Amino acid sequence: MILVTGGAGFIGSNFVLDWCAGADEPVVNLDKLTYAGNLANLASLRDDPNHVFVQGDIGDVALVRRLLAEHRPRAVVNFAAESHVDRSIHGPEDFIQTNIVGTFHLLEAVRDYWGALPDAEKAAFRFLHVSTDEVYGSLAKDDPAFSETNRYEPNSPYSASKAASDHLVRAYHHTYGLPVLTTNCSNNYGPYHFPEKLIPLCIHNALAGKPLPIYGDGQQIRDWLFVKDHCSAIRRVLDAGRLGEVYNVGGWNEKANLDVVGTLCAILDELSPRADGQSYKTQITFVTDRPGHDRRYAIDASKLERELGWKPAETFETGIRKTVQWYLDNQEWVANVTSGNYREWLGKQYGA
Ligand code: NAD
Ligand code: TYD
Repeated sequence: MILVTGGAGFIGSNFVLDWCAGADEPVVNLDKLTYAGNLANLASLRDDPNHVFVQGDIGDVALVRRLLAEHRPRAVVNFAAESHVDRSIHGPEDFIQTNIVGTFHLLEAVRDYWGALPDAEKAAFRFLHVSTDEVYGSLAKDDPAFSETNRYEPNSPYSASKAASDHLVRAYHHTYGLPVLTTNCSNNYGPYHFPEKLIPLCIHNALAGKPLPIYGDGQQIRDWLFVKDHCSAIRRVLDAGRLGEVYNVGGWNEKANLDVVGTLCAILDELSPRADGQSYKTQITFVTDRPGHDRRYAIDASKLERELGWKPAETFETGIRKTVQWYLDNQEWVANVTSGNYREWLGKQYGA
């Protein structure tokens, strides 16, 4: 079996759902259930004996040791993290605690467990750390896309904390021989994306008749990947990645934020037109920029394609349409996650 951390969040829950649909191998899912973790994402697995959910913290060494001893996983896939840049600006502490200290404690528990495994299991074991392209910093307009050899230049408390966790994972391989793999992926989008991030926030606000907030001039560029493609890349790296290696994961889909929101509006105009016949684009509103806002991310995923034969299945156009349709079909899920705490966050970030 495998142990997944953070499997009730956006990417982790997509990964667990795909895993349970495609493999007859049990998964233990350890998640603290912060504001970003949501068991409703996993509702379809309620009666699946291959899914074991445990609420807890990756930094709880005693708990992680117990889970490892009890379930004897052949791999750990670490999604658990604080993941929202804007929240890291308002309050970096949780990011340091989970992303750095938590990853350290997780690594310690895994190192002990792995060290005591019989040789064959020890050789087969993998620790896959899920990370982000944001560790590489910001690109100028004509810079080549990030490759695995780019220098780390994290600019936000979020990316700095992820960078630190990547370094710890790397050090546990070089120092202790822990069989690690690291993936650095670009911005994801798709089902179960918490509506504090650009794409689900704008779909939600559009349908609610609220402003679609664009930071600064909206010309910041992100490289978007459909979440199911990220999950397939992680499965591929887990199966065949070379030990100690880093793999960049991306969709070759660089888009300016304003264009992304424009595309969302056009799809919504078609699938769920406004009652007054106007375009959702009229709701676009420019707001104060994010401090230290990275201008451009772009991922060169050619190593993953060349070495492991991975390619994304979706283009941005196909993936974004599926995403908008999913949000239209799952308004109840959206209503459930946009209650109390969520409204407090909007007040803090966007004012009244
Ligand atoms: P998310 O915020 O939606 O989910 C994070 C999950 O981790 C939540 O379920 C939360 O409850 C859980 N969690 C938080 N702290 C925990 C702790 N201390 N112990 C156990 N569980 C804890 O995040 P996401 O977007 O699904 O991102 C998952 C991973 O992928 C993160 O490591 C993130 O850095 C990375 N990543 C995300 C993106 C993206 O675009 N969202 C892109 C590249 C990499
Ligand atoms: P986000 O989804 O927070 O991801 P990240 O910061 O990790 O890339 O933001 C994506 C881009 O959209 C980023 O450039 C910030 C911008 N953005 C807005 O313009 N308005 C918003 O309300 C949000 C949440 C993000």
